[in-house]
Amino acid sequence: MTALQLFAWISVAIFVQLAIFFSYAFWRHWQSYTVLRQTEGANSPPDMSGASDREHAPSVASWQGLRVMRVRKKVLEDAVQQICSFYLEPTDGQTLPDFKPGQFLTFKLDIPKIAGSPNSVAAVTRCYSLSDAPRPDCYRVSIKRAPTPPGTTFAPGQSSNFFHDHVEEGSLLQVRAPSGHFYLERGSHPAVLIGGGIGITPMLSMLNWCAVEQPEREVWLFYGVRDSSEPIMLDHLRVLAERHPNFHLHLCFSNPLAQDVQTSATASVTCHHSRVDVALLRSQLALKPYHFYLCGPTPMLGSLVPALEDWGVPDERIHFEAFGPASVVRKSAKTAAAAPVAQSNSAEPVSVTFAKTGKVVQWKQGMGSLLDFAEANGIPVDSGCRAGSCGTCQTVIRSGEVHYLQTPDADPEPGSCLLCVCTPKTAVTLEA
Ligand SMILES: Cc1cc2nc3c(=O)[nH]c(=O)nc-3n(C[C@H](O)[C@H](O)[C@H](O)COP(=O)(O)OP(=O)(O)OC[C@H]3O[C@@H](n4cnc5c(N)ncnc54)[C@H](O)[C@@H]3O)c2cc1C
Ligand code: FES
Repeated sequence: MTALQLFAWISVAIFVQLAIFFSYAFWRHWQSYTVLRQTEGANSPPDMSGASDREHAPSVASWQGLRVMRVRKKVLEDAVQQICSFYLEPTDGQTLPDFKPGQFLTFKLDIPKIAGSPNSVAAVTRCYSLSDAPRPDCYRVSIKRAPTPPGTTFAPGQSSNFFHDHVEEGSLLQVRAPSGHFYLERGSHPAVLIGGGIGITPMLSMLNWCAVEQPEREVWLFYGVRDSSEPIMLDHLRVLAERHPNFHLHLCFSNPLAQDVQTSATASVTCHHSRVDVALLRSQLALKPYHFYLCGPTPMLGSLVPALEDWGVPDERIHFEAFGPASVVRKSAKTAAAAPVAQSNSAEPVSVTFAKTGKVVQWKQGMGSLLDFAEANGIPVDSGCRAGSCGTCQTVIRSGEVHYLQTPDADPEPGSCLLCVCTPKTAVTLEA
């Protein structure tokens, strides 16, 4: 063989190897592209499998204001009878509008001030997350009794106890349409859902939606409870985990019972004897661009959100919802807030005028939200969730500017603000 022939053979061999390599790379990319097309869905052709008929059906318009709904079914979810699910159907038999998994309903309840006295009622507004995937015929919420805090003599939670004790099958309730900015988007990114206690409700909606709409998507659920008496809908979660190899179910017992310590894992569920924290997440999750969805008690969010930020998870991949007065402030919000405060000298009091009474009071750092401040000064303001979700504390700003402590779920009308999640940025006059 001549040198020229040898060179030609080597060139052909290199060419064949390159062709194989590029064909393989193209095939891999094409596969990923196909999966992405299927999961992103927005521009994909109609799915003839029928799996997502609802998505391709014309969407039903949502409603404005309050709508009367009937309780179709009431189901106790746990052995200690602290959590109860309510299935709500429209009274007019119409199809219900879709919602995004993770959104909530807002209820306006007329709660008798004295038991058995319907003439003397208190209007109470509360939000409850939808705890199932969208269905055309009914919505589900799952409500935990709020007991008297230990060591106090306060009355037990008004709305949750009213639901448990007085709302029955056939009861009529006034409900605002599903809303909220905390939800799982259709997409291909892997999702880590973290639900603490009753914070499992939006996660159930996300999971159930995903199981139908994107069964191939990688989803992890870390369900934080004190012990094995607390988790709800565990059989359902186990079935999901058995059916969907990409769904990973982890139970975290912060205060396990003796029998919980012996259980560590079954085929469908992994048990941990600790709280959900970043050390646990790091030990379980691979290096992937996960999106984290958190809902639970304020202390859990208050520790986990900053810990995820410290771990290097970008802001746009951390989504959370607090079920009560929210005190979690993102690092980026702290940095943004620090700049104007530094310029205007944070120690300086800011003048707040309550226009209806003409009362002028000085607000200082540490005095809480404008809602706390109004209440502390005897200004009556209606409130519900105290977390920027229900819209009840919306108040017109006559002049001045406010600063939001967090992005609210409810969208205040232009020229108004939600007092429960605001502080004054400049001297401000409020229509309250
Ligand atoms: C977006 C969103 C979604 C939610 N989703 C759910 C859900 O899916 N499921 C669910 O169960 N909850 C959910 N919640 C929480 C729910 O809205 C209520 O906050 C919760 O049910 C408690 O309301 P309540 O009226 O029963 O208690 P409240 O009357 O508001 O009382 C709360 C607690 O304060 C105590 N208390 C009473 N008086 C005082 C006082 N003077 N000082 C101090 N403490 C006092 C009460 O004993 C009680 O423990 C959600 C909240 C939000 C904002
Ligand atoms: S009290 Fe619900 S938004 Fe302020």
